[in-house]
Amino acid sequence: MEKLLELKQIKKHYPILGGILKRQVNSVKALDGIDLTIHRGESIGVVGESGCGKTTTGKTILRLHKPSSGSILYYPENSDSSPGIALEKLGKQGIAKLGLNGKMQMVFQDPTTSLNPRMIIKNIIAEPIRVQEKLSSRKLNAKVISLLELVGLSQDHLLRYPHEFSGGQRQRIAVARAIATNPELIILDEPTSALDVSVQAQILNLLKKLKQEFNLTYVFITHHLLVVKYISTRIVVMYLGKIIEIARTEDLFARPRHPYTIALLSGIPSTDRRVSKRIVLSGDVPSPIDPPDGCRFHTRCPFAIDLCRIKQPVLEQVQTGHQVACHRKQELEVLMKKSDFS
Ligand SMILES: Nc1ncnc2c1ncn2[C@@H]1O[C@H](COP(=O)(O)OP(=O)(O)OP(=O)(O)O)[C@@H](O)[C@H]1O
Ligand SMILES: [Mg+2]
Repeated sequence: MEKLLELKQIKKHYPILGGILKRQVNSVKALDGIDLTIHRGESIGVVGESGCGKTTTGKTILRLHKPSSGSILYYPENSDSSPGIALEKLGKQGIAKLGLNGKMQMVFQDPTTSLNPRMIIKNIIAEPIRVQEKLSSRKLNAKVISLLELVGLSQDHLLRYPHEFSGGQRQRIAVARAIATNPELIILDEPTSALDVSVQAQILNLLKKLKQEFNLTYVFITHHLLVVKYISTRIVVMYLGKIIEIARTEDLFARPRHPYTIALLSGIPSTDRRVSKRIVLSGDVPSPIDPPDGCRFHTRCPFAIDLCRIKQPVLEQVQTGHQVACHRKQELEVLMKKSDFS
């Protein structure tokens, strides 16, 4: 598969300022060394508890936030053998020169706040197109109408304001706006979490259809493992600013290799997972301001040993396409069998 983007040791530390002089006294380690390759045409699911850094990952990929350190490499189409282009080093002009304006888009969880309430739908969808190319107003209008139809709305909606739509319709508008610039990558941050179950299913089906039709690449952020199971080919599990497991969707569900992933899977109905024993998480996620030493999960892991308290495990391949960061990955299945969790 062709590479699209590669994140290399991305860190994002948000400064915490204190005192009268507003000096930096500490930092929130929202991302603490993320390595991830995104291939063209794949759909990656990113899961993990609240605060683990999912949205920050999305915003950093889109350069809405500048990474504190690390590199984001971009590979133009059909150039897999060339070294990637480091996006963090490019200014606005460099991005425009590469033709990257509008090529990466984001759809947010809450369409009520992500769509400008004072703009009519026509302008909301036309805005990113105008930035990218100059079209006559007739052509622009026709393009906006075809986008609306693509997401299941119609030209009758052109002159309305966002508040005149239901949540599901608003999310359709957000999707139309995101695909308006023919993007290569769309980051979907909990795009269905604010919707009813039945509307959720409609939006997921729409996203699946659009992905096929335009050969899009998705990074799909969600709390819901069953949603990513439906939409993603690969899943990334995050915990407290780190990636702890990456696997193809079927492998992750059939054979999770990190205790935290097992714990996440334990929360879904047993018909949807094949691991019968469960790990029930206790306690809260520790603070990302002062994360635990060693493995960040050790404070909640039932299998933690001394090594886990001292040394950070790195992501290592356990089988093709399956990477895990756990000191006890090789013994995990035996440990699970011996355990009395049920
Ligand atoms: N602009 C910011 N300034 C300071 N800290 C931030 C900022 N944005 C996020 N954080 C912190 O970074 C950490 C990761 O946040 P992020 O929003 O990426 O989590 P998330 O995984 O998307 O969570 P959720 O599932 O609740 O959306 C959190 O501890 C959060 O408080
Ligand atoms: Mg988030």
